[in-house]
Amino acid sequence: MKTSKIGYSEVIVSKLGLGTNKVGGHNLFDNLDEKDGYDQVRAALDAGITLLDTAYVYGLGRSEEIIGEVLKEYDRSKVVIATKAAQDPANDLKLTNDPAFLTKAVDEALVRLQTDYIDIFYIHFPDEKTNKSEAVAALDKLKKAGKIRAVGVSNFSLEQLKEANRDGLVDIVEEHYNLVHREPEDRLFEYLRENNIAFVPYFPLASGLLTGKYSEADYEKFDKFSKEQFTKIIQNLVVVKDIAESHEATVLQIILAWYMKNPDIAAVIPGARNAEQVSGLVKAAEISLSESEYEKIDEAFTNR
Ligand SMILES: NC(=O)c1ccc[n+]([C@@H]2O[C@H](COP(=O)([O-])OP(=O)(O)OC[C@H]3O[C@@H](n4cnc5c(N)ncnc54)[C@H](OP(=O)(O)O)[C@@H]3O)[C@@H](O)[C@H]2O)c1
Repeated sequence: MKTSKIGYSEVIVSKLGLGTNKVGGHNLFDNLDEKDGYDQVRAALDAGITLLDTAYVYGLGRSEEIIGEVLKEYDRSKVVIATKAAQDPANDLKLTNDPAFLTKAVDEALVRLQTDYIDIFYIHFPDEKTNKSEAVAALDKLKKAGKIRAVGVSNFSLEQLKEANRDGLVDIVEEHYNLVHREPEDRLFEYLRENNIAFVPYFPLASGLLTGKYSEADYEKFDKFSKEQFTKIIQNLVVVKDIAESHEATVLQIILAWYMKNPDIAAVIPGARNAEQVSGLVKAAEISLSESEYEKIDEAFTNR
């Protein structure tokens, strides 16, 4: 499994990670089976994936608890846990980046995860009032105390990120990014490169749309896109299908391999519903796309 180093921290992650909002995320998704949650985390770790991306808000702590239970079956030192907080349970999940809240949130996540350190801790969303460099300074204090190993922010504007990174303390950024949502390329990539900050895209499969399992007739399932946009995306996926056939791979594996070839992307964290879907993701880590394959996909999805 290929790996990446996260910013100036000591954290090393597998380039293929697992997003776990469907592990115990009952508040976000209907009909989730917790057994599938446990099994998919085990399937990922058994396959050599070391990065697990969770958050307090995935099941209001339940995702972290399940991961904590599964972790007891594995060597903790070989797993990288990334978690996030900003939604205050004591205030109707209102967003806060208050230093005291973040400090408490880390302590509470440590209990749910049954561990004494968190590898990557993100401020999940910006609030409106906290100075971002003060919020990050609180996380840096926790890093120095050994409670977290890398400092991250998520869903920040470039201005908020610059304020957060005023003292060069941000190691990693997580943002909505995929082949049909490439806006962070222009907005953030240059700053991240210049400041040695790692980038992890979320929704890499555009919530399933980029798996290749949908046809033009399914446009009503994805209300983010007009019928015309949806049809274009399905047509663009034909380019990926041809490349997938030549690698004896699936469309989603090629798409994940495309992200992993990009040096601006430290790791991808596709989500899954069950262990079987995790097995379907794993081969992506073994695929090496040629430059021309990379460019063909890039061009097909340039008019996003
Ligand atoms: N920082 C943030 O604010 C933020 C926000 C959102 C998400 N995230 C993180 O990003 C992760 C990824 O996002 P996501 O899971 O919502 O979306 P995603 O990775 O874009 O798509 C995941 C979906 O793809 C489908 N899929 C995955 N493997 C498959 C397979 N082998 N065969 C067929 N279909 C497959 C499943 O769809 P079906 O469910 O339709 O089967 C699965 O639910 C999350 O788990 C979370 O950790 C972070």
